[in-house]
Amino acid sequence: MPARIAAGNWKMNGTRADLDQIDALTAAHPAPAVEIMLCLPATLIAEATARAAGQALRIGAQDCHAQPAGAHTGDIAAAQLADAGAQVVILGHSERRTDHGEDDALVGAKLRAACDAGLRPILCVGESLAERDAGKTLERIGTQLDGALADFDTMPAGLVVAYEPVWAIGTGRTPSLDQIGEVHDFLRKQIKARYGGATAADVPLLYGGSVKPANAAEIFGVPNVDGALVGGASLKESDFSPIIAALTSS
Ligand code: 13P
Repeated sequence: MPARIAAGNWKMNGTRADLDQIDALTAAHPAPAVEIMLCLPATLIAEATARAAGQALRIGAQDCHAQPAGAHTGDIAAAQLADAGAQVVILGHSERRTDHGEDDALVGAKLRAACDAGLRPILCVGESLAERDAGKTLERIGTQLDGALADFDTMPAGLVVAYEPVWAIGTGRTPSLDQIGEVHDFLRKQIKARYGGATAADVPLLYGGSVKPANAAEIFGVPNVDGALVGGASLKESDFSPIIAALTSS
């Protein structure tokens, strides 16, 4: 069975003043039955890690550079994120693909860098609305998965895959439960074809895109949904906790 994971992505939100949300989160979930992660702006990782010390909350990052070090002004290497306390890193988020032109080959190189630094990767895939309307959802997701994993003969350690339809992110719109299930079944099959059934069975598959307290339980009821990657509703403990509770009782 895959681990169940409630992962938050704060995106470019939050300053140190907001880290009291971490205290509230760890206080609300002293011994969680699911894994809880918060992927934060790089500026907050070290202090958040200190605050979460001894608690069942993993702090993560939202991107890393593909190279281990060097002349890359403004970028951050995976080992530097790990040094600051990150245990997890989101890779290939659609906002990185759009804002920074990241393609599947670059996402694959970042995946390698993350693994080399011992970070647990959350690989994001997802179709645009135009791709969905054109009936190309699975084709697009297959390309993203294959592209990122092309150089991995064995599965990246601890791989987590997040299905995030671009058109559902921050919009309040979500795919139907059948549509979510179709993509998650496809992801499991693709990973199985690549790495075998035993390996694929243990890969947590997260859904992301407008997950809220009100829709979390029904989404977690979909087969092959092992958790969520949550944006806006992860910023406040009062929104994130009911999502964690819904996953716990799913
Ligand atoms: P929202 O939950 O705000 O739609 O964001 C989803 C997301 O992009 C998480 O990575």
